[in-house]
Amino acid sequence: MERKIDVTNPATGEIIDSVQMHSESEIRTAINKGANAFFNWSKTNAHKRAQLLKNWAQVVMNHKQELANLMTLENGKPLKESLGEVDYSVDYLEWYAEEAKRIYGRTIPANDGSKRIIVTKEPIGLVAAITPWNFPAAMMARKAAPALAAGCTFIVKPASETPLTGMKFIELAHEAGIPKDVIQYVNGKGSDIGSIFTESEAVRKITFTGSTAVGKSLIKNSANTVKHVTMELGGHAPLIVAKDADLDLAAKQAVASKFRNAGQTCVCANRIIVHEDVVNTFTEKFIQEVEKLKVGNGLDDGTDIGPIINKQGFEKITDQIKDAIEKGATAKIGNSFETNESEGYFFIQPTVLTEVTTDMTIMHEETFGPVAPILTFSTAEEAVELANSTPFGLAAYFFTSDYRLGTYLHDHLKFGIIGWNDGGPSAAHAPFGGMKESGLGREGGIEGIEPYLETKYMSIGGLSFNG
Ligand code: SIN
Repeated sequence: MERKIDVTNPATGEIIDSVQMHSESEIRTAINKGANAFFNWSKTNAHKRAQLLKNWAQVVMNHKQELANLMTLENGKPLKESLGEVDYSVDYLEWYAEEAKRIYGRTIPANDGSKRIIVTKEPIGLVAAITPWNFPAAMMARKAAPALAAGCTFIVKPASETPLTGMKFIELAHEAGIPKDVIQYVNGKGSDIGSIFTESEAVRKITFTGSTAVGKSLIKNSANTVKHVTMELGGHAPLIVAKDADLDLAAKQAVASKFRNAGQTCVCANRIIVHEDVVNTFTEKFIQEVEKLKVGNGLDDGTDIGPIINKQGFEKITDQIKDAIEKGATAKIGNSFETNESEGYFFIQPTVLTEVTTDMTIMHEETFGPVAPILTFSTAEEAVELANSTPFGLAAYFFTSDYRLGTYLHDHLKFGIIGWNDGGPSAAHAPFGGMKESGLGREGGIEGIEPYLETKYMSIGGLSFNG
């Protein structure tokens, strides 16, 4: 029996397409094809691989508007953010096209004149990726580009909520000349495909972006075959506003960080921690910015905040708001919803909570929604303690013009990504990733290709030459 996944538009609940779920044997066949294609691809000249990645980037740009429309239809994000995500994805393709040519080895001076020590890098083999619904293009590009640049073959399972953008990206990779078996996709239930990937000896690496709970189980299940893993997991980003901060800048950047993709990113500011002397002024400025945000269908002109991806996401967010209010928080703006459960859409007005305390769920769990809790601190030590009191360590932000305080915060915050007076630090040329339970490894930058490479060392002996 042919099984299908219906893809719905989260702004209307309408089914926009259905995709075929691959059977277990089809997934195993795809794995075999990827493993068999590895030899030729890994031996393809790095300059040729670079050119093919550049071709892919070009073909994607030729389809930019179409891809962005598709992304908004299946994910709900405003069209301007989808267009930005296509650019962001192309940045990864272009960056790693260049890095393909810079996979350097080295020689090490030996302690014996008759020896020479040479270190080289090799691609690790077939990579399996599982990508999330919140960035259906960029998270795939951020994994596929370094994998292909390194000489690995690649197979991806896109999120079931948003498979169409990823599938289209891969079709465009083939159109750009990348061999079909070098980059493939499979669709189906995440847990089933995850198990097939982790059990397979042919898959040498798993790379995943998604929840910490799923990441932990993928790490555990990869142990039997000792696979390489890269994990980009949950976040709970603090955003600290010091008393000397430029409050206009802080308010604008806090809005940009908090409400990107309706608050549905791993790096969204999740806890806004403001010095007690400036909390009233900051909150006023922040609310003035929040009032400008227009909630609606991402395809409509002027929309800043699209729908929540599904009912489960909506309930998690609204439970956090309810819990905070029951424990004494005040909703200064928002806390109103436009939903139609039978049709299947859920919108949340951007919500700002004040009088927030550390016993509230929102202070401990990732929200993944457009809710900004504001709480106060009095000393830098207290701000750091509040910020670090989480098992997560992905992104943290702070706003200050004092270089000593900024340096102190940088040195004491246990997070992999820091934005100092910057609410949008993500970039293809910088290493993205978290500490603690936010993940393992980095994606982007020169660090992002290393996880796709093995190091091989060779000692050559008997080199004494007597003339
Ligand atoms: C994410 O939310 O997982 C990624 C966001 C980014 O790359 O900026």
